[in-house]
Order: sequence, then C-alpha cells, then structure tokens
Amino acid sequence: MAAEGAKRHDVVIVGAGPGGYVAAVRGAQLGLDVALVEKEPVLGGTCVRVGCIPSKALLESSFLYQEARSAFAAHGLKSQVDLDLAAMHARREKVVKQNTDGVAFLMKKNGVTVYRGTGRLEAGRRVVVAGDEPVTLEADHVVLATGSVVADLPGVAVDGETVVTSTEALTFAEVPERLVVIGAGYIGLELGSVWARLGSKVTVLEYLDRILPGMDLETAKEAQKALRRQGLEFRLGAKVTGVEVDGGVAAVQVEGADPVEADKVLVCVGRKPNTRGLGLEELGVELDERGRVKVDAGYATSVPGVHAIGDLIPGPMLAHKASEDGVALMELIAGVGSGSVDHSLVPGVVYTEPEVATVGATEEQLAERGVPYRKGVFPFSANGRARALGHTDGRVKVLAHAETDRVLGVHAIGPRAGELIAEAVIAMTFHASAEDLGRTIFAHPTLSEAVKEAALAVDGRAIHS
Ligand code: NAI
Repeated sequence: MAAEGAKRHDVVIVGAGPGGYVAAVRGAQLGLDVALVEKEPVLGGTCVRVGCIPSKALLESSFLYQEARSAFAAHGLKSQVDLDLAAMHARREKVVKQNTDGVAFLMKKNGVTVYRGTGRLEAGRRVVVAGDEPVTLEADHVVLATGSVVADLPGVAVDGETVVTSTEALTFAEVPERLVVIGAGYIGLELGSVWARLGSKVTVLEYLDRILPGMDLETAKEAQKALRRQGLEFRLGAKVTGVEVDGGVAAVQVEGADPVEADKVLVCVGRKPNTRGLGLEELGVELDERGRVKVDAGYATSVPGVHAIGDLIPGPMLAHKASEDGVALMELIAGVGSGSVDHSLVPGVVYTEPEVATVGATEEQLAERGVPYRKGVFPFSANGRARALGHTDGRVKVLAHAETDRVLGVHAIGPRAGELIAEAVIAMTFHASAEDLGRTIFAHPTLSEAVKEAALAVDGRAIHS
C-alpha cells in the first residue's frame, strides 16, 4: 500500500536519458509497472537533446560542406557551395526533435508513466517530484539515472557566451573566427572538427602530452595527424590556468606560455556524475572518492531498494554503456537475467573524419599487464572501397593473444570506423580468435574487409598488403 497521496509503481526511474529511458522500456517489456521522472520538457537526456545526436547532425552537415568544397572536384563535380548556418541548425533541431519525439512515443507504446519535474530521493523508496504538478512516488525499486554534468576547470568561468560548454557550442549563431578548445577528448575533437570545417581557426589545448587519453596511443597519434591536416592546431602539454574575457574576446592563459586569444572558448575537460540535489547525502547513499555512486555488481547502492546506472556509477561515461546497465538492472529486478555489463567490451567512437573506434585492450594496457600479444595492421589505402570513396586515411589494428590467438583489442581509424567496430565487438563477445575473424567471409568491396585483413595480418597473412 502506498502512503497517503503517494503514487505507487514497481519501479521509479529518475532521469530519461539513454540509461533511464531504455531501462523503462525493458522494465515494461518484462511486465513491471514503470514510472519515469524527467525535469526537462523533452525526453532523451543529454545524449539526445544536447549531446550525441545534435553533434552527429552537425558533424554530418559540416562534413558534406567540406566534401563539397574540397572533394567534389576530384569526382568531376563542379559546384559552388555556400553555407547557410541557420538552415544547418534548423536541420539539427529537426533531427533532435525526431529523436525526442521517438522516446516519448516509446514511453507511450510501452505504458511507462512519465512524470515531469525534478525528482528527489526520500526515505522509504520514495521520490518527490517537484514541478508544475508536484507528486510523491513510491516504489519497490528506485533507479537513479541522472547522468553527468560538465566538469569545471578551476580558474575558468563558463559564461555561456564567450566561454562555453558543448551545449552552447552546438548552437553558435555565427562561425567563430578563432575557437579555442580546452581538452582533446571526445567533445573537443568532434566539435572542434565541426567548426574547423565551417571555417574557424581551431586551437586545441591539451594538458597531457597526447590526445584522446585512454585510447590506443598509436591510433590517437594517427588521429592527431589527420586532424592537423584538416587545420586543427594542437598544443599538447598545455595546462590552462584561466580565461579572461574583455569585450567579447577571450585570452586563454596557459601555464608557461603566452595567452591564446579567441572569440569563443569551448571547455571540455570531462564530465562528472550528476548527483546534486538528488537527496543522496541525506539518505546515506554512499559515493566514492570521485563522486560516483557506489554500487555492487547488481547496481544496488548502499541504501536498500535504491539502484544507480550509467554515468552516475563507475565505467565508461557512454550512452550505450548506460543503456546496457539499464537493461541488465531491469532483468535483475524481474529475475530473468544475469545482469552484467562487461566494460572491456564497451566500444568507444570519436566521430571525427576519419572516425576513431576502439574496443578492448590498448597496446599500452597489454604491455602494462604483461600480456603477450601479436599485432595485425591493415591500412585503408589498400582497401578498394575506401579508394572508391576517396577516403583512404587510417588503418585497422587487431591485437591478439600471442599464445591463444584470442582477440584482445581492435583499434580502428578510418572511414565509418564507428560502424566497423561492431564486427570486432561481436567477435570479441563470442571470444573469437584472430584466425576466426580472418576466416570469416566479408563482402567485397567493403570497408569491413579491412577488419578481416588486419586479423589475417596478425599471422602475416593479409592478402592486400
Ligand atoms: P574527455 O574525458 O573525453 O576529455 C577531456 C580532455 O581534457 C582530456 O584529454 C584531458 O586530459 C583534458 N584536460 C583536462 N584538464 C585540462 C586542462 N586544465 N587543460 C587542458 N586540457 C585538460 O571529456 P570530454 O571531451 O569533455 O567528454 C566528456 C564525456 O562525454 C566523455 O566521458 C565522453 O565519454 C562523452 N562523450 C562521448 C562522445 C562519443 O561517444 N562520441 C562524444 C562526446 C562526449
């Protein structure tokens, strides 16, 4: 029985991003009565509203613009292409709306009850929703899926105008003449690419001595070379200590170097779990030293009946990982699944040109762990489909155990690498060896043949190189 005035559900999920909404669908499929609480007017979370989806829309548009200007002539196409940035933004908004509407449709179709407002945890597995229609919810299981927020950079005040986060960098009304990007991670390289393609002079300031930390180093170096050729300037080992804005112009202070002037500064030095205002402290939900919600293997927090998934908990801060967490948790709650997500099989994709896509261990990790491995590399310059596309930059690298031949990691940079990596993930999920991959029949001519050839190259048997 619900306490007086409270609405009762089997599961109440707070946050309608790719973690929360996917969990809601899976829970409903399993016959649970699911409620979803969201503070934004539309569903989909950061990923759909102001992250993955709009950035991919702009990446596609800006890629076509660049192609039209630099690659069409080689195809025998003559054209004069002008940029209508407002129209490009309108398309981005349309793409986002298709996706947010899609999530709303899925909730309806699956009978998920959506409550609009900000959810806050209370004792007794309750969630108080503050909004236009305040309501108290009660459930057997509360799921926290509130995602992450932009991490601050000490000394740098985001004003939303000159110094911005990825959210504002998706909507610049004009192409900034000079854009400084702080942080050479996923966001910096993707949004830096968008604006560089549209005409900005982009300077990327990165604290470390490399870009894309955590990714395979050789692959990251290839990416840096390719992006440099596209006009992005990289300053590595650059520690940003502050930004001063005067009359709409920013001076970005870098330790031990001259300040860098910019018309816009994009701060993208990572994200942190979005736990503020959720009532966790009051209830005694424990966090770890990095502010992430502590959970056991079944996503249970330190408070009975309260679970957490996605960016709130340890693991890669990626939409697809959050979704898999959500599915696993709902199956645990419904008692139908083993409920685990293998972090070593979560692919990562950076949607630059060429795309960078990786899964599994990097060479650095294998060396550090003392795992003996063999390496096979195949360049797209030797792939027929890539030549026909006119995009031959990049390579696929397969790392396999030296004794068992089991595939331990695949790191690709090249055209549509983000799609190709799925083959590697499937192979690794089924514990394939490089031999298995190399003997699999791939259609010709396809980009995916590069994966097969890289697997064959582990044994020195690539056909086309
Ligand atoms: P990130 O963690 O990918 O990269 C942040 C970068 O900033 C790192 O290279 C770090 O060394 C650097 N940095 C830190 N402090 C600095 C300083 N003071 N000066 C200069 N550089 C500094 O974080 P990012 O790009 O903000 O992305 C946030 C999250 O969003 C990531 O966890 C990522 O997983 C996710 N994301 C995923 C995308 C995808 O899957 N394609 C796209 C965009 C974001």
